Amino acid sequence: MLRETRAKALTLATTLAVVALAAAFAGLRNLPREVDRRPGHGPGPAPAGAPGLPAERAAAGRAAFERLRCAMCHSIAGRGNPANPLDGVGARLDADELRAWTLGTGPAADELPEMIAEMKAGAAADPALDALLDLLGSLR
Ligand code: HEC
Repeated sequence: MLRETRAKALTLATTLAVVALAAAFAGLRNLPREVDRRPGHGPGPAPAGAPGLPAERAAAGRAAFERLRCAMCHSIAGRGNPANPLDGVGARLDADELRAWTLGTGPAADELPEMIAEMKAGAAADPALDALLDLLGSLR
């Protein structure tokens, strides 16, 4: 009886471990890996898609996007996790909405799972947060 319970617990633990590993690999697979220095080919979002934004501002925004690991869950121009593309987000959301969804606050806090909202909250401390928001706003 005890042995049977143990066996069941072990089966459950193994299943959970496999599922967790599969999820982890599925996420990792979508992260930019190779370092390719050609324009538009490096890690992180492609340089394209920042019209009207000074190059330095766009670069600072992209650096923050990488630093804050937004690509774990989002893609820009095909880079990052394709599950939640941010292409065109600047046309869909206004500046306040972009800020709320980036930081998981306000209306976004009500819609996002709590854990994700908490992960997003860390972006508030980034010195280039405003550049990141400008970059998102330029994605039209
Ligand atoms: C752990 C996963 C996760 C991380 C990390 C994450 N987000 Fe999100 N984000 C989501 C989910 C889930 C949604 C809601 C689904 C959607 O709208 O794409 C969302 C929504 C958004 C939206 C609204 C998109 C839309 O089309 O309405 C923006 C903007 C956004 N996130 C920006 C960011 C930025 C910038 C970062 C990095 C600082 C970031 N997110 C990090 C999961 C994440």
